[in-house]
Amino acid sequence: MFVLPDLPYPHDALAPFVSGETLRTHHGKHHKTYVEKTNELAAQAGLAGRPLEDVVREAYKRGDKGLFNNAAQAWNHAFFWQCMRPPGGAAPSGDLIRAIDESFDGIEALKEAFVEEGFGHFASGWVWIVMGSEGLKVISTHDADDTLVREGLFPLLVCDLWEHAYYLDYKNDRKAFLERWFDNVANWDFAAAQLAASDGQGDAFRYPPPEKDAPSSGPEDRPRA
Ligand code: FE2
Repeated sequence: MFVLPDLPYPHDALAPFVSGETLRTHHGKHHKTYVEKTNELAAQAGLAGRPLEDVVREAYKRGDKGLFNNAAQAWNHAFFWQCMRPPGGAAPSGDLIRAIDESFDGIEALKEAFVEEGFGHFASGWVWIVMGSEGLKVISTHDADDTLVREGLFPLLVCDLWEHAYYLDYKNDRKAFLERWFDNVANWDFAAAQLAASDGQGDAFRYPPPEKDAPSSGPEDRPRA
C-alpha cells in the first residue's frame, strides 16, 4: 500500500516562486489522487506490495496505461518534491558543476537549455536534467512518462510542466515559472546526490523518500479541506 509522502518542507517554504496555495493543491489533491488510484489499480493488476519503481515498469511493459499513468505520476511527483528547496540554498558545486561545465559550458547555458526545452514542450509533461552515456542532457517527457522506463538515463532533477504546477502563480507564463524555478528553488544538493549515485556512490532516490527530521508538511500543516 503506497502512502502519500510528506513534502520535505512546509507548504509556504517555496513562496513566492511556488505558492503555498499551489503546493497544497498540487501535493494534497493531485499527488494524493495519483497515489490512491495507483493502490487501487496495482491491486487489480496483482502488483500490490511491489515497489513503486517495479509497478511503473511492469505497467509499462504490459501496456496497462491506466496503471502506468497513475503509478508514474505518483513516482514523478515524489521525485519532484525532492527537486525543490527553499530559496537561498546552495548553487551547484563540486562534481555537479564540473559535469555541468563539461556538458553545457556553464550553469547559464544549462538554464537556457532547460527553459527552452520546458517552454517548448507541447502540453503536459516533465522537463528533466539527466545523466546519460555522453554526459548531462536536458529532455522532456509527455504526460506521466518518465526516466524509469528509459534505458541509460539517470534523473538528477525534474520540473513539472503540467498547468497545475504553475497556473495559480504564473497563469499561462510557463517560461517565467521555469526561469524562477531554476534560479530560486531548484535543489542542487539533491541533484548532486543523484549524480553521485549514478556513479555508484550512495543511494539513488527510491519511493518513498526517507523521512526527514526537519519541519515538513506533516499532518498539522495539511490543508483542512
Ligand atoms: Fe503535477
